Amino acid sequence: MRRPDRRVSASASEPRIIRSTMMDPQDSDDGDELEAVPQTVPTLPSLQRERAPLQKSSVCSRSYFMVVMVFFHVYIINVIALLFYVHYNNTPRDALVTAGSGNPVSGGGDHHKPPESHQRQSGSESAFTRDVHLPRLEGIRVGHVQKVSLVPGKMHEMRTLSLKPLLFEIPGFLSEEECRVVVHLAQLKGLMESQVMVPEGQKELTEQLNLSSEEIFNLLDLNQDGQLQLQEILTHSRVLDGIWLTPENLREIYAGLKADPDGNGLLSLEEFRLLGMDAFQRYLQQRGVKSSQLVRNSKHTWLYQGHGAHQVLRDLKKRVTRLTRLPSALVDLSEPLQVVRYEQGGHYHAHHDSGPVYPETACTHTRLAANTSTPFETSCRYITVLFYLNSVEGGGDTAFPVADNRTYEEVSLIQNNVDLMDTRKNCDKSNLRVKPVKGTAVFWYNYLSDGQGWVGEQDEYSLHGGCVVTSGTKWVANNWINIDPDYQRQARYQQLVSLQPEEGREEGPGEGPGEGPQQGPEDGIEEGPGEGPEEDQPQSQLSPEQRHTDSHQEL
Ligand code: OGA
Ligand code: CA
Ligand code: FE2
Repeated sequence: MRRPDRRVSASASEPRIIRSTMMDPQDSDDGDELEAVPQTVPTLPSLQRERAPLQKSSVCSRSYFMVVMVFFHVYIINVIALLFYVHYNNTPRDALVTAGSGNPVSGGGDHHKPPESHQRQSGSESAFTRDVHLPRLEGIRVGHVQKVSLVPGKMHEMRTLSLKPLLFEIPGFLSEEECRVVVHLAQLKGLMESQVMVPEGQKELTEQLNLSSEEIFNLLDLNQDGQLQLQEILTHSRVLDGIWLTPENLREIYAGLKADPDGNGLLSLEEFRLLGMDAFQRYLQQRGVKSSQLVRNSKHTWLYQGHGAHQVLRDLKKRVTRLTRLPSALVDLSEPLQVVRYEQGGHYHAHHDSGPVYPETACTHTRLAANTSTPFETSCRYITVLFYLNSVEGGGDTAFPVADNRTYEEVSLIQNNVDLMDTRKNCDKSNLRVKPVKGTAVFWYNYLSDGQGWVGEQDEYSLHGGCVVTSGTKWVANNWINIDPDYQRQARYQQLVSLQPEEGREEGPGEGPGEGPQQGPEDGIEEGPGEGPEEDQPQSQLSPEQRHTDSHQEL
């Protein structure tokens, strides 16, 4: 389905070429005329005056002819282009699956192609012809305000907050009453700790990699000076078993383990070798940790937004569909609403809501359609829509440490013992902070476009976190729109889901009505081991067995 487009655009450029070649003779005519004029002017001024209109009219008639010819050609080319377009559009698309079943962009909002009633299937890989162009909002420039129509009879203002990531703010997205209802529904359902300590999360990974102390040392020693600086250890791993490491607690660990006798904060290869692989973890486990030392210190729950859900939750989903302009099929099949509560002292260190996608990375939501098991997995949250359900008394901003930075370098995130990802300490050094105001929504793209209308690479600049709440409680909610950067997988997944019984369809992967909080797609996983700072997708760090179990739950 790309071909007709190309055909059309080719024809659109053709008239331009024709016009330029057609204009040449006329230009040379004008040139002739100009050349003739100086010769006649000095000798026959009166004649020239008479000749001028004559000449003009002949030029006129010739150019008139040219213009007619140009239009004629353009007309013919347009007709041909149209015929091509119609031809390709009507070619039986054996494989193209549509209508919210297989074609990820069908069954969508008002501005999309009408869903086709038929559904064709084919088992082959080429089964899903790519005929899509996901709309992506334009930021124009930071501070740009555009009016958006999200609810009948009301216009909202949407302000661009940054271009990297593409990030917007919409005040009054929810009414006070809607905020109240969402908080109330979350309380009724019950919230659970977003992160709990699970011992020995990362050991397995080190074992799997089967690296020697020396090899690990060399990997960590970024500047290759034969010493491990605190910064090098933190850059590699901000988190051990879900515990957020700071320069201070690293020093404390060194002291506790007597790992750094001279106390200069550097580890030599010898010192590192003596420590053993999991000394840090063992030390932290037995020392015990407070929730303020975790990656995330909050509680959350999931609220289903499909058929039978509270009207406010369904309205919210509809509004999100209008805001993002994405096909409703994609929004309907995304995760339920996540409602989060931070108590005073709560925080969420900077992270990516969704991780990078490599060829061997699976998306959690389309695992159902993946034929092979993959070593990596992420949630493929194309968009985050974050709602502030109350105005926080003190602190609790959402920080984007590197928004609109000129470059993104992981090593630059910690400099001179200042860790930009630490939202308990360094929110004031973030490039951008959003204050929680009741009813305001912010939304951003966690992935770039692939340049062809689909989801592309992860946008690293979307790094963000929740600053520590210094006073009062903070309530937020997240709507994530899941799209697989692998178009074929997304299409296959939608087709599979469409074949499921109706009840299961709108629930999104992993949560059914009436199911307990343990059944959400992230549940039991966010609580799981080794929640990483780069992504709140601890699934990727689960063992294959654990992942397997989860995938069965989700089915
Ligand atoms: C999140 C998140 C930010 C905030 O829940 O993923 O980044 O301000 N929250 O609470
Ligand atoms: Ca070093
Ligand atoms: Fe987040």
